[in-house]
Amino acid sequence: MKEELIRDFNERFGNKPAEEVLAFFLKEYKGRIAFASSLGVEDQVLTHMIRHIAPDTKIFTLDTGRMFQETYDLIDRTNSRYKMKMEIYFPAAKKVERMVNEKGMNLFYESVENRKHCCFIRKIEPLHRALEGMDMWITGLRKEQSITRNHNQMVELDENNHGRIKLNPLIHWTEDQVWDFIQKHKIPYNPLHDQGFPSIGCLPCTRAVQPGEDVRAGRWWWEQPEHKECGLHQR
Ligand code: ADX
Ligand code: SF4
Repeated sequence: MKEELIRDFNERFGNKPAEEVLAFFLKEYKGRIAFASSLGVEDQVLTHMIRHIAPDTKIFTLDTGRMFQETYDLIDRTNSRYKMKMEIYFPAAKKVERMVNEKGMNLFYESVENRKHCCFIRKIEPLHRALEGMDMWITGLRKEQSITRNHNQMVELDENNHGRIKLNPLIHWTEDQVWDFIQKHKIPYNPLHDQGFPSIGCLPCTRAVQPGEDVRAGRWWWEQPEHKECGLHQR
């Protein structure tokens, strides 16, 4: 049973260092494991580790078509630093056309339902395509990031995602740990992080936060905290 397997994995790896966890799973699931990078600071740490441990691992990003120019620039900078070519997945053109023609270019501000619909078309569908043939995917989730994430674990069953296994190597990391690692290894990161954007998603749905505000306060800032997941990490 997958549940038992996951329980065993958590007992073995739940509190182990990220590199050790990655080294095990990248070998064990070789060819069946992929890393989803949003180019956020946690994901930059993981790209660095994965490129050093198992450079042939698939690394992809979901380009919603609404990202910041700084994020697109960072794709190029990351590819050049790690001598790689991150795979880019784009939403289905016809579905985006239908959505914006029916509901407007900025439908997401009008209701949680519209916002989730846009995230579904622009992120979730492409994610399923990106993960075809994969049994496991890696994310940069951290417990500390939000109230919606403090129950997440190192290894999880992703029931919304064809029962794939989800691996969150940085689940216990603090923000300080992430930045220390970035600085120590001179890893390229999004300049928006220095302008008050701790968490970066699509441009129309992300804004800067004030000092002391929650790290995800700038994501879908007009919604209540418990709604603030795009569906990639829905429980
Ligand atoms: S989100 O669900 O609110 O957008 P967040 O930006 O915090 O998620 O990122 C959490 C993790 O989800 C990232 O570390 C990454 O693994 C994955 N992720 C989020 N957005 C993308 C994206 N556009 N492309 C690839 N992976 C993504
Ligand atoms: Fe659409 Fe905003 Fe979700 Fe991006 S974050 S996919 S623009 S609703």
